[in-house]
Amino acid sequence: MNDVSRLPGDEDMFREINSRLEAFPNRRDSLIPILQMIQQSCSYLPPQAMEYVAGHLQVSVSEIYGVATFYNQFRFHPPGRHQIKVCLGTACHVVGGDIILENFERKLGIKDGETTADLEFSLERVACVGCCALAPVAVVDETTHGHMAPSKVEGILLGFEIMRDQAEREGRTRDEI
Ligand code: FES
Repeated sequence: MNDVSRLPGDEDMFREINSRLEAFPNRRDSLIPILQMIQQSCSYLPPQAMEYVAGHLQVSVSEIYGVATFYNQFRFHPPGRHQIKVCLGTACHVVGGDIILENFERKLGIKDGETTADLEFSLERVACVGCCALAPVAVVDETTHGHMAPSKVEGILLGFEIMRDQAEREGRTRDEI
């Protein structure tokens, strides 16, 4: 069992992860199911949890990351309050999906797979989201935005800024936006 008392952050969550780790055999083929369990609990793979896994399976932390980064189902940053997904499936890619992604990256100051420092936005590229006729497509939270263009990137982010300002003026929290 690892020492959870030294770890920062949500100790209850780490304590639970640590105890659930014990249910997995101490074998390398447990790694993917363990990572899936952690991501389900935390919504991403926190570095502290990777240290637990390394201790449990008796492998190096870098080996764990080597495996985890191979699969795009795993995230290494906490998800933002608003999740922006840019489609880079074939239909979107050929009409400039990568330019849309670059625009979001530049405006938010983060790269694909990252979350802004204020935990407001996370950004990721995804495969076809099933509405190729609207390419290029971005999905922001639950809303699909078709025929994306750099000006629409600006408009979407400006919309959030306006809502945030308005919420502040009305004394509402960000979670109520
Ligand atoms: S490729 Fe983007 S929606 Fe299908």
